[in-house]
Amino acid sequence: MTHGLFITFEGPEGSGKSTHAHRVAERLTACGYEVVPAREPGGTPTGEAIREILQHDAAGEPVAPQTELLLFASSRAQLVQRVIKPALARGAIVICDRFADSTTAYQGYGRGFDVERVLSLNDWATGRVVPDVTLLMDLDVALGFERIHQRNLEAGHGEDRFERETLEFHQRVRDGYLALAARWPERFRIIPSDQPVSVVQAAAWDAIAGLLPALPEGGRHEG
Ligand SMILES: Nc1ncnc2c1ncn2[C@@H]1O[C@H](COP(=O)(O)OP(=O)(O)OP(=O)(O)O)[C@@H](O)[C@H]1O
Ligand SMILES: [Mg+2]
Repeated sequence: MTHGLFITFEGPEGSGKSTHAHRVAERLTACGYEVVPAREPGGTPTGEAIREILQHDAAGEPVAPQTELLLFASSRAQLVQRVIKPALARGAIVICDRFADSTTAYQGYGRGFDVERVLSLNDWATGRVVPDVTLLMDLDVALGFERIHQRNLEAGHGEDRFERETLEFHQRVRDGYLALAARWPERFRIIPSDQPVSVVQAAAWDAIAGLLPALPEGGRHEG
């Protein structure tokens, strides 16, 4: 079976996941690869509806931590079945802005649910579809918050539900990510993200360049 390449971007708030996932996707597309971008929660119509509930309490009531954990898993299950598996099967490169490690870091280490239980829920929801490589955009939590605050100010919108959590919560999330990277060193690449965008982007590219599949026979992918 053909297998493309599954790349995920992870890291605490404002660490540059979306910025660098987008740039890497553009560069790979320019090289001639079929690139399938996705984000979590979301990436499918069902997932985007779940995203609204999770990020903005769109259902009009606070989301209980247990519900939150299961909604993330639901969004991910839909994304895997509808988007990620078919894309990998036809040899595409999937670039996902957050994936299962986010749930382990936020709901496990952050909220305090048993980490092994969260990992086994993730395994069930994804059917053990695991990224080939995970770029952990690592950044001081306070610096990430400064960046997000600035970004939200420029975009003219307020903080989402997770951005309103305490600094201590986000510190546990960052430490959790580092623990996951230590546990699976062959999958994770830690990218220090306190440098200018161009420097961080070069490091992100270096982390994946050696893993790229051969371009399809007959050349470039045409849309
Ligand atoms: N290396 C960098 N130096 C300075 N600013 C940066 C850098 N990388 C990203 N930024 C800026 O920081 C803000 C947050 O970046 P981005 O949205 O990519 O982070 P994120 O990890 O996707 O955040 P979130 O957790 O909210 O999804 C953006 O305004 C972005 O332009
Ligand atoms: Mg983002």
